Amino acid sequence: MSKGIIRRRKTPAEIRAQKGAEPIVCLTAYTVLTARLLDEHVDLLLVGDSLGMVIYGMDTTIGVTLEMMIAHGQAVMRGAETACVIVDMPFGSYQESPQAAFRSCSRVMMETGCDGIKLEGGVEMAETVSFLTQRGIPVLGHVGLRPQSVNTAGGFRSQGKDADEAARIEEDAKAMAQAGAFAMVVEGTVEPLARKITETVPVPTIGIGASPACDGQILVTEDMTGLFDSFTPRFVKRYMELGESIAEAAGMYAKDVREGRFPGPEHCFGVKRDKE
Ligand code: KIV
Repeated sequence: MSKGIIRRRKTPAEIRAQKGAEPIVCLTAYTVLTARLLDEHVDLLLVGDSLGMVIYGMDTTIGVTLEMMIAHGQAVMRGAETACVIVDMPFGSYQESPQAAFRSCSRVMMETGCDGIKLEGGVEMAETVSFLTQRGIPVLGHVGLRPQSVNTAGGFRSQGKDADEAARIEEDAKAMAQAGAFAMVVEGTVEPLARKITETVPVPTIGIGASPACDGQILVTEDMTGLFDSFTPRFVKRYMELGESIAEAAGMYAKDVREGRFPGPEHCFGVKRDKE
């Protein structure tokens, strides 16, 4: 019998245990190639529904389907060996009821083999999160700016600037932790609120545009590598300009083909190479 590859990915419980001990490093991944490249560097890979905008060119994440998330979740799982893999639940697949959420989330868990799911929500989703976690589905919460609520929130804007909004988001975070989320993404939130939430909840906070006060950080990989350039939020640090490099490579290739330099003899079958 073949021994196969033994994979040992980080578990949601191990991510939770990093609070107060070690910063949690997270990035998004949508493909097997990206997952392979990022795997050894991060604690957690998120198959985010941001793929709707980054990979499919949508204006928001609202049009992302469960089938898209499952297909990309499967691809990332083929590339991840040590990072915890979490798949985002798309809009419409979990909000209706705890039972509907369980059906969608169990499909994602079964068909991808991922380590847990992420869903957006606060106090109103606490019953669902509790239902899921009691039935074996690890949940990563997502509070603050919630991209799936863009149509009711009036756009993508930072959260928690006024006292009422800050109090509401703090309640959301507490409700997620109490319902059993193993950690939560805190997105687009002013520093004092992110700090307060991080100090208050017993599970890790993973910030994106939410200051270094959080227990960990996440960025969209295509943002931080400069591949996605439709817009760059202020909170993104670009570590390279991959988009420019790809465009440059495409230009060099096109020139080579047009000027007869590619393919050369070394790229051909059955063509004698010149003697050196
Ligand atoms: O969909 C996504 O990629 C996310 C991260 C930005 C946290 O939710």
